[in-house]
Formats: sequence, structure tokens, C-alpha cells
Amino acid sequence: MGRYLSFSIAVIIITIKDISSYHDNFTSVESSEGVEWSLARDQTSKYPSPDSLTSPLQTEPRRRLVSGGATNPYNRSFDALRLPMMGMMEDPTIKILFDIQDGIRYVLQTKNEYTVAYHGTGTTGMSGVLDNMIEPRDKVLVCIIGYWGNVVAKIAQRFGANVVRMEKSHGSRFSLNEIEAGLHRHRPNILYLVNGESSTGVYQPIDGIGNLCHKYNCITIVDVIATVGQQPIKMDENKIDVVYMNSQKGLGGIVGLSPVSFSPRAMRKVRRRRSFPVIYQTDINEQADAWFITKPVESRHEAYTHSISVSLLYMLREGLARVAEEGIENVWERHADTHSYIQFRAAKLGLESFVPKPEDRLIGTSIWKAPRGKDGFKIEKYMLEKFGIEISPGLFIASGKVIRVGLFGSNANREAVSRIMDALEIALNSTETNS
Ligand SMILES: Cc1ncc(COP(=O)(O)O)c(C=O)c1O
Repeated sequence: MGRYLSFSIAVIIITIKDISSYHDNFTSVESSEGVEWSLARDQTSKYPSPDSLTSPLQTEPRRRLVSGGATNPYNRSFDALRLPMMGMMEDPTIKILFDIQDGIRYVLQTKNEYTVAYHGTGTTGMSGVLDNMIEPRDKVLVCIIGYWGNVVAKIAQRFGANVVRMEKSHGSRFSLNEIEAGLHRHRPNILYLVNGESSTGVYQPIDGIGNLCHKYNCITIVDVIATVGQQPIKMDENKIDVVYMNSQKGLGGIVGLSPVSFSPRAMRKVRRRRSFPVIYQTDINEQADAWFITKPVESRHEAYTHSISVSLLYMLREGLARVAEEGIENVWERHADTHSYIQFRAAKLGLESFVPKPEDRLIGTSIWKAPRGKDGFKIEKYMLEKFGIEISPGLFIASGKVIRVGLFGSNANREAVSRIMDALEIALNSTETNS
């Protein structure tokens, strides 16, 4: 009893002290409207407001973003960012979640129930799907044809996977036979492929991969970031288990969301897990509740996993609506036409593709070797400063020695090709771009 009494006194003292320290920050006076609070006089900020924030935001001149990273968004998608914000639990917001699921399923040609968009960039999707699919000591066969396979290998290791790397030289891709030989030899639980290796401009076909994975009893994860909304993806027909993408390329939006889709087969592996995925926010079961796949809309107040950005949802919804309005086959056709035309214009400039075989080339992201005596970094600078066109001198692989141009979403058209290639011709003829 005595012990209990002294404990209670200690709690009371601590509580009184806490309140008084809270009150130290503010002063209060009683008025006819109740208690009025104001900041105590000694609560001045120690550091001044930064000078950098006193000048206006600098975003001019307007740029054409064709580096192969984020593209200029479709107007419909960009304009949606300015629409009035709604609450995240409102019926119209929840309807947007369903619209987005429909749109993602459409661009992937799938009926997968477990289709959501994570908040974050494509890399969030990449680590999110790996986290859901990998249990410690699972063997993951990573097919590496450029930069992104290496990133996946690093992430898979962090989730405790036994990673087996299978590599090809830059500018080439795996044949189905080579992939089968890898599966036969290593017997992995998971196979990873990148459909569009944007660092080398290589297209890795995924036809037949699903059948192989069924034969060797493994799960396929495919990165479709550089192909979705640009060239055909038939997730169900090709029996692909898991894919991830981002919102700023073929889906024509801005950076911020990462759609993912899991097949029923992938979800069976998730259900058999003995441990939870490491990261709560990208746990597909948590997200399936939040996207009302596994929870009814009526239980909306128990479906929360994190705050959602309604503006980003508008953006993605409108990007997907833009694609749906044009029709996915027409979108693929438009990208193919743009690709043909830029290849033609590049050949006229005497540019040599980084990817030797035309059939191995990615549709939306083209890479050429910088001509002899020319510096990729200087070409990049010249194009940006003289024409407001953002191209890339290469990402990690051969950087400074190549020219990378990504034409997808709103930039996938002949008019964009003409402007870019006219400007590139001038850049290549200028001595300012000499190495
Ligand atoms: C093929 C590929 N995978 C992954 C990523 C990473 O996506 P994010 O930059 O949105 O994180 C990119 C980005 O360009 C990519 O091209």
C-alpha cells in the first residue's frame, strides 16, 4: 500500500511538471471568449528564416523532358493536380481508387484483383514487390542486362534472399533458352526480369517466361516501368506473376505513385509466408485493405494504412483515363510510329545505336553512341541551354559516351521527334559539343 502511494505521488509530480513545461511555451489569459493562448515571449526561433526561400520559385524556361526519365505529363493528368482536394474517406475519393485499379488492369491487360498503387516512385514498387515475394533464404535469379538488375539484386539481398546473378553484356538481352538454362541450373523461387532496360535501351521480351516459371515452379517479377503505356504488356496471357511501374513515363503523369499488380499465384505465395514483409506501408495485404479489395467500403475508417495524396490519385487517374480514351492499342501504335521515325532521323544523322540489333531496341527509350570526337555531357548541356530540351548523356552505363532520348506519353509523336532531331543536328555540328 505504502509502495503504491509513493508511486502515485511520483506520477502526480511528473504530470504536474509536464503540464507546467507545456505551459512555459505559451501564455494564457482568460477572456470573455474563454482561454486565449499566445506564444511566450522567450519562445523566439533560434535560426532565421532562410534567405533562399525569399526569392520566387524558378521554373522557367519551359523544358521538353525527353531524357528517358520523367516525361512532360499529359495535360489532362497535370491539370488534375490543381483540382480541389477532397477528403480521403469520401465516396468520390474511394471511387477514384477503383477507377485507378481498372485503369492499371487495362494497361497491363490483366484481371488481377490485387492491383494497387503504392505512394512513392518506381523504386518503392520495386522494393515493395520484392519485400512481399521474398522470404529469408528464398533463391532469387536476377537477370541483369543493365543498371536496374543490379539495383534489384541489392534490394533482394537486403530482404535476406539468396541472390543469383545472371548477366549479359550491355546492349544485349537474354533468349528464352538462356533463361530456361538459368532456371534449370539454379532452381530459384523467384525470377526477376526487366522488360525495358532503360539504361541500355534494350527490350527484354517476356513472352513464354510465365510458362517457364510454371514449369520450374517459381514466381516471375517483371519491371515494366519503361514499357507500360508504350508497348504491349499482356500480363495474364503471358502468365506474369508480379509487375511494378511508375507514374511518370508511359502513364503520362508526374513522379509520385508506383502501381503494382500481383497474380493469384503470387498471392498464394504471399499467403503461405511464415513472416510478415519487412515494410508495413508496401505490404500488399495492408494495401489491399486500404484499396478496398479485401475490406468493404463501409469499413473505410478501419482501412487506413497511411495518408493518401488525393492530388496524386487524380493525376494517375487522369493519365490512365487519357490512355483509355485513346485506346491502349492506339497508344502502342503511336509509340511504335514515333520509334520508327526517330530511328529514321537518327540514321540520317549517322548515329549508331547502342543496341546493335533493331529487334532488341526498346520502343520508347533510344540510345545512340555519341559520335567520335563528341562529348555526351556537352551535348546534354547544349540541348538544354540552347533549346530547352532535356536529353540524357546516359545513366551509369557509358555515361558521357551516349545520347539517350525517351519519347513516351505526351512526347510520343512525330512533331516531338522533328524538334528534337533538328536541335540535335545543330548540337552535333557545334564545336561546343566537342570532347
Ligand atoms: C526500368 C526502370 N526501373 C526502375 C526505375 C526506377 O523508377 P523511379 O525512378 O520512379 O524510382 C526506372 C526509372 O527510370 C527505370 O527506368
